[in-house]
Amino acid sequence: MNSDNLVWQVHRINKAARSRRNGQKPCVLWFTGLSGAGKSTLADALECRLHQMGFLCYLLDGDNVRHGLCRDLGFSATDRIENIRRIAEVARLFVDGGLIVLTAFISPFRSDRDAARALVEPGEFVEIFVETPLAECERRDPKGLYRRARAGEIRDFTGIDSPYEAPLQPEIRLDTATMDPNRCVEVIIGYLGAHGYLPRA
Ligand code: ADX
Repeated sequence: MNSDNLVWQVHRINKAARSRRNGQKPCVLWFTGLSGAGKSTLADALECRLHQMGFLCYLLDGDNVRHGLCRDLGFSATDRIENIRRIAEVARLFVDGGLIVLTAFISPFRSDRDAARALVEPGEFVEIFVETPLAECERRDPKGLYRRARAGEIRDFTGIDSPYEAPLQPEIRLDTATMDPNRCVEVIIGYLGAHGYLPRA
């Protein structure tokens, strides 16, 4: 522990002030699911929609974050845990900043997602399980990674030789094999509206 000699600074402009200024209820919209399930596509479409509606958002996306903040991390269980821990902390900062933050990471371990949820206040975390089946993700194989994983060229690939722990009680479930992206966005917007996340909508 390296925080023994540190004191938390309280600032006068806080989350409540920023939320009022932004006219929105900050929250984390946490997408989870297999590679190729459609997390990034849906998060991107949802961010566009929320942006058009006048909300301030920020999208954290696995492949992009791994180019910077998490460039030192691979795909061992230990590295994935650290990847999600950092993302969860960043998401918490964005929520404190009064934003709606969208995250698109496989985030395969239930305990890490639960830890991310616990970092923000009750009601500020919406878990969106993109439950597209493995067979469909593998059929799409947009980056050719499943083929390479099956060929043994990539180790620890989620769904092949690395586990994915499905959420037990996600706020929202979406199967992109049976629903098109527009419909998925409508479902999410419907949920957010019905639960008070979109006060001006
Ligand atoms: S997580 O497991 O730590 O949450 P993250 O979402 O950041 O993963 O990154 C997943 C992306 O990295 C995949 O969409 C894929 O493009 C790429 N990737 C490369 N190697 C792997 C692997 N072994 N397992 C899963 N995804 C991988």
